[in-house]
Amino acid sequence: MLLYEGTIWYKKSFDYQRKENTRLFVYFGAANYIADVYLNGEKIGRHEGGFTPFNFEVTNLVRDKSNSLIVKVDNKRRRDAVPTLITDWWNYGGLTRQVKLIETPATFVQDYFIQLQKGSRERISGWARLNGNKLHQKFTVRIPEARISKDFTTDENGYAEINFNADLTLWSPNNPKLYDVVIEAETDRVQDQIGFRTIETRGTEILLNGRPIFLRGVCLHEEAPFRGGRAYSREDAQTLLGWAKELGCNFVRLAHYPHNEFMVKEADRLGIMVWSEIPVYWTILWENSATLDNARNQLSEMIARDKNRAAVIVWSMANETPLGDARLSFLKKLIEHARSLDGTRLISAAMERHYLGDTTTQMIDDPLGEYVDVFGCNEYVGWYDGLPEKADRVEWRMKYQKPLIMTEFGAEAPYGNHGDPLTRWTEEYQENAYQHQVKMLKRISFLRGTCPWILMDFRSPRRPLPGIQDFHNRKGLISDRGEKKKAFYVMQNYYHEMEATLPR
Ligand code: GCU
Repeated sequence: MLLYEGTIWYKKSFDYQRKENTRLFVYFGAANYIADVYLNGEKIGRHEGGFTPFNFEVTNLVRDKSNSLIVKVDNKRRRDAVPTLITDWWNYGGLTRQVKLIETPATFVQDYFIQLQKGSRERISGWARLNGNKLHQKFTVRIPEARISKDFTTDENGYAEINFNADLTLWSPNNPKLYDVVIEAETDRVQDQIGFRTIETRGTEILLNGRPIFLRGVCLHEEAPFRGGRAYSREDAQTLLGWAKELGCNFVRLAHYPHNEFMVKEADRLGIMVWSEIPVYWTILWENSATLDNARNQLSEMIARDKNRAAVIVWSMANETPLGDARLSFLKKLIEHARSLDGTRLISAAMERHYLGDTTTQMIDDPLGEYVDVFGCNEYVGWYDGLPEKADRVEWRMKYQKPLIMTEFGAEAPYGNHGDPLTRWTEEYQENAYQHQVKMLKRISFLRGTCPWILMDFRSPRRPLPGIQDFHNRKGLISDRGEKKKAFYVMQNYYHEMEATLPR
């Protein structure tokens, strides 16, 4: 059934010879929405949240022969959940990403954070944490290509700060330089590919490695090209990000939840900057403390997974959430939490805006703006809001001296549906809307990024229109079969023109 909602049970049998002095974990890339996990009849854990990784230790439960791993996954939407009942995308469900057995030494490198210190292009600052019974150890951080080898010692809790100077080639879209970084402890060795860059704001400027930059972006859902369903593989990521590159992008907004790790690592490799978001979407239960804990946990898991990815420059707390005190206090708590976990990246959200009186002046003064580094705003002038030419009359004003990213705009048309530029649902109407949008966007002095909604058509339970939508949101610049619509070339020209005129 297209939009199945309920429980699915998974079963996997496996043999496993555990070696001396090792431990074993079952790792899940994601399970939508609530997962209950059992091994050999024992419940080993539960996880809530459909888009972030989790794992459980099974060292003392696993046996040599015929282990039985059972996973119950329930994708039923709930009012107090994150996201809540209403979303303009289909969550799919079940085990949507890889499941792995991970073997470690008895004491292993559990986590590390190695990035440039905020505002410094030569100071590496971070930490490492061991897990096990031999927590007080010496370890070395190596960056062989840069002939760097620095020694540190963990404290009795297995934790150590990492700080040293380094003269490295900085990661950027034009040169997405990644270094092999090795953490060698007495009992374990881990290696990662890490890029080093700084990202900050100065007034209405966004600075990458100290230089102003414009984010030529596009939004995308984690929807698989050609076959539908969840994108989950390196190949899916290469296809989707390849299209974004073809559009002229140096930035993508991964909407409205953390996408799979292949997407972020591929962006690292391709030099595409990333906006990563948790699914605090529309009308969340703001007063519910369990909902806040859930959102905070998803935020922790998102940051934990991708904190070493140079490509990720923005953590987004929410999308299109109606103004209100409870909402503001909820989102402020999330921002504080994000800043406590990672002080090196920009914090944002797709926020509210409104017309001033009955004018065509859009005012951006969402009170949440006080607490973010960069502003995100969604607008649909020419689709939900008037005809395409209305954009010619719309002026934008903002209360804050901060950069604005227009995080959504666009119009809807199934590929191949043609007509005149004022007939809705046609490629010509979508093209017309984009032509007026681009002219309007060029007039916004504090605009530092654009993310049209959306790269590719995607499945949505809210889009039933027969023969047009068929449970798909058709605002893609590309159809779900990879066909480029006329509007694709309007955005491509805008980005290529920008790339040519503004080497930023
Ligand atoms: C909203 C929302 C998207 C939605 C889009 C649309 O702004 O953020 O999730 O799909 O508009 O209506 O197409």
